[in-house]
Amino acid sequence: MNNIWSDHVQGVMTLYLSRKLRFDDLFFSQYDRIFRLDRSKDLKILEIGCGPGALAEALHRWYPKAQITAIDRDSNFISYAQKNITGVSFMEGDATQLPFEDESFDVAISNTVQEHIEPAAFWGEQRRVLKPGGICLCLSARKGIQCTAPCLEMTDEEKKFWDSIPESEDVRETCGVGAFHMSEAELPASMEKHGFKNVAAGYALIDLTPDAPKYPEKMAEAMIEEGRQSSLEAIRSAHSDHADKAIAAVNNKYDERLRLYRAGIKQWDTSVSVTMILRGTKYRLQ
Ligand SMILES: C[S@@+](CC[C@H](N)C(=O)[O-])C[C@H]1O[C@@H](n2cnc3c(N)ncnc32)[C@H](O)[C@@H]1O
Repeated sequence: MNNIWSDHVQGVMTLYLSRKLRFDDLFFSQYDRIFRLDRSKDLKILEIGCGPGALAEALHRWYPKAQITAIDRDSNFISYAQKNITGVSFMEGDATQLPFEDESFDVAISNTVQEHIEPAAFWGEQRRVLKPGGICLCLSARKGIQCTAPCLEMTDEEKKFWDSIPESEDVRETCGVGAFHMSEAELPASMEKHGFKNVAAGYALIDLTPDAPKYPEKMAEAMIEEGRQSSLEAIRSAHSDHADKAIAAVNNKYDERLRLYRAGIKQWDTSVSVTMILRGTKYRLQ
């Protein structure tokens, strides 16, 4: 359909790797206590605005009996997910005009999508395709905590690179990124207004601190690598012929962060994300 999001807002690896960490099995219990889905049932689950597919991939692990369909209107994301993730049916599609029949799913779920889509269409389409009594789960990012290690601060080479990139049209504004953001109080009220009952809200707090002893080495190094890949993807997406020095600077600083981690020299840099999770059930409007 288009590549607007992956070309101008967040790249494939930036979204995939950050979500892969947030939806790691280590954190399943936090989601599970709010999702309250029956793992023994053959649920039909629809994810809307799935991006490159990390949540759908996690859902397939967490609910192995479920039949999972995931859609996004960004062709790059769907093509990445189709090539790299098994057990999920990925397709291009618009959340405001879902290509599914009425009352065909048990669960509809989305992560950081609500704030980009007009509420009547966002809730209305999910409500339409849910069976009566079906469950809508809406995950929405809230303000978290970010603390950068000194060795990962932006280098002069990166600053020079970004200063050399001419400002382009702000696609974020033209394609409505974040245009329908709601507060923690507005969001559940909006869900109720659009035909869901028993609305409940909870929070998942995902602490990504590489130096925390509770994390195995593989997970800690994946946290560091995620930062490297996001920075590299941002530089490459500027399509400049003068990116070499900035790319080398990014690689050097992340190599140094890995060296410090492996040497046990703690930096305590951290990224704590807070995700608000809404759960409501569909009922018939009178
Ligand atoms: C912040 S990203 C989140 C992606 C994914 N849920 C994740 O957490 O990695 C928002 C996503 O919503 C998608 N999106 C926005 N409006 C859409 C629409 N009307 N129909 C389908 N997808 C849409 C974008 O293409 C993008 O992939």
